[in-house]
Amino acid sequence: MAHQKRAGNSEQIPFPPPAASVSRRGFLTGAGAASLAAAAVPLSATRAARGASPATPDGTPEQIHLTWGDDPSRVVVVSWASAAQAVNPRVHFGGDCSLGRTVPAVQRTYTDGLNGQTVFTYHARLEDLRPDSLHHYAVTADNDSHGADPFKATFRTAPKHRAPFRWTSYGDLATPVTAWVLSYPQSRYAVEAVERFQPLFHLLNGDLCYANLNPAAQPAVWADFGNNNQTSAAFRPWMPCVGNHEIEFNNGAQGFTSYLTRYTLPDNQTPFPGRWYSFRVGSALFISLSADDVIYQDGGAFVGGPAPLTPAASTGNQAIEPGTSLYINGYSGGAQTRWLERTLREAREDDDIDWIIVQMHQDALSSSRTGNGSDLGIREAWLPLFDRYGVDLVLCGHDHDYERSWPVRGCNHDVGQDAVTGAVVDTRQPSPVATAPAADGTFDTTHGTIHLILGGGGTSAPLDVYGVDAANDSAQAKIFTRANRPVAGGTAGTFIRLGADALEDAIWSAQRDTGTGYGIAVFDLDPGERGGKTSITINYYHAPGADKVPTPDYQLFETVVLAKARRGRRDDGHDHDDERDHG
Ligand SMILES: [Fe+2]
Ligand SMILES: [Fe+2]
Repeated sequence: MAHQKRAGNSEQIPFPPPAASVSRRGFLTGAGAASLAAAAVPLSATRAARGASPATPDGTPEQIHLTWGDDPSRVVVVSWASAAQAVNPRVHFGGDCSLGRTVPAVQRTYTDGLNGQTVFTYHARLEDLRPDSLHHYAVTADNDSHGADPFKATFRTAPKHRAPFRWTSYGDLATPVTAWVLSYPQSRYAVEAVERFQPLFHLLNGDLCYANLNPAAQPAVWADFGNNNQTSAAFRPWMPCVGNHEIEFNNGAQGFTSYLTRYTLPDNQTPFPGRWYSFRVGSALFISLSADDVIYQDGGAFVGGPAPLTPAASTGNQAIEPGTSLYINGYSGGAQTRWLERTLREAREDDDIDWIIVQMHQDALSSSRTGNGSDLGIREAWLPLFDRYGVDLVLCGHDHDYERSWPVRGCNHDVGQDAVTGAVVDTRQPSPVATAPAADGTFDTTHGTIHLILGGGGTSAPLDVYGVDAANDSAQAKIFTRANRPVAGGTAGTFIRLGADALEDAIWSAQRDTGTGYGIAVFDLDPGERGGKTSITINYYHAPGADKVPTPDYQLFETVVLAKARRGRRDDGHDHDDERDHG
C-alpha cells in the first residue's frame, strides 16, 4: 500500500469511486462542460438551472442549501431565500418521491446595514428521519413561480453508529461572478468538484463569499454565492464556519447577521448561537469554531479611505470613517473556549468517538508568504486544548493554498523573532512529534494533531507562495503575535493594516503545494473492526493551472492516511460496532 504519494505526482490518477455511484465517464462529462468558460459567468448562469429569479420578485425559492440538525442521523434543515416575502413557505418530504410529509418553514429576515436591502430567508427542520437513508424533498411557497413543479432534490442522512463515510472540505469559495471583488469562475468548478466526489457532507471553512469587500452590494453577493452552491448544497449538507470576510459593518455585534440569518446550525447552548457548534457522524465528532474570537489579526470589515463608507440613507446609519475596522477579538468573553473545552472533554469520555475533527477559518500553522500566515492567538487559546484532548485534525482556510503539517504536540518557546527588529519573540512554535509516516505508511494522530490549510476554494487571489528562511533555506512562517489595527497609509487620509509581525522556522510544515492555490480535500473514514484500527484516508486534489486560467481539472496531489486504535473495549456490549439503525 502506497499510503503517501509524492507531491506533484504527474501520474493521472482517477478520482476514487465515490460511495454513491458516479461513473468516471459521468465525472469527465461534467468536468468537460464547455459552457463554463474562463470568462466571467453572467449572473443568470449562477442561478439555479431552472432560472430562479423571476422578473417580479416573489416567493420562488433560491439559494437552497442543507445543514445538519443537532443529530445528523435524524434531522436535516432545508434553508433558502426568496426575492420577496414567501407566502406559506414549506418543504414536502419523505423516503420516496411521494413526499408524504410537510413541514412549514420559519422566516428570518434582516435589512442590510449598508445598502438597506431586506433579505428574506426560510428554514424548515426535517425531523424524525431514518438514519443512513435517502430522502426526497421539494421546496415551495404559495407565491412560488414554479409552484406547479417546485424545486426537488434528495439527500442522505448520516449513519447513527460506526460506519464508513466520506466528507470533503475547502474554504474561501467566493462566487463565479467576477463583478465582485475576489470572485473568480473557479468557484463554479469547486462546487462541481464536491458533486463529483459525492460526499455525505461538505465542510466550508470560512470566507464564504467576501460580501464585505463589496459593501454596496452585500446581499447580491450572498445571493450569487448561494445560487452557485445550490448545485451541491441542496443535495448534501454544507457545514460552514465564519471567517473574517463574514464580518460586515452594521450587521450585528460581530457583523455576522448575513451569515447567521442564512444558516441554521446545531445549537451550542450559549448566548452566541450559530457562531460555533459541533455535530457527530458515526465515530467522528466535528467541531466548528469562530477563530476571530481568539486571533490577534484584524481581518474583518475595514475602511481604508480616503473616502468614508457611506451607507444608504434608508438605513439611517452614519458614514464609517477611514481607518475604521470591526475587530471582534474576545467577543464571546471566553464562552467559546469554555464550550470547546467542555465539548472536547465529553468527547474524550465517550468510547463511541474515535476521531475529533476541528474546522475553523484562520490558521495556527501556515507558512504562506503572500497570505496571512499563522496566528499566535489560536496557539495560545486552543492548541493546548487540542493537545490535552487529542484532536486529530484541524481543517482551515484563510490562506488560499494547501499546506499540511506534521502531527504536532506542545511547543517550543522563544524561538521566533520580530520581523522588523529580529528581537526574540515567543511564537509558541508547534513541535512536530513525527517528521515521517510510520513504517506502515500511516500517521497516528493519537500522538499529535495534523493541521491542513484548505483555502483553495475559488477566489481570484491564490496565496500559494510560501516562506523560506534565506539563511538556511528551510520553510519559514510569519506569525501575528499582536493586533494589527489600522495605521496611517502611504497617502493622506488612507489607512492600512500591516501583515504578521514575527517569523519562525516552520519545522512543523510537512507539505506545501507550490503548483496552485486551488483544490479540494476528500476524507474517507473507515471505522475498522472492533479491537482493531480505524483510519481516515485523505486525498487532496488540486487544480493545476487554475492560478492563471480557471479549470474543471482537479488532479490528485497527495494521499495521506491517518490510523489509530479504535476505542471501546473488545467485549464491550455497548460498542455498537457496525450495527445499523433501521429505526
Ligand atoms: Fe479568504
Ligand atoms: Fe480569511
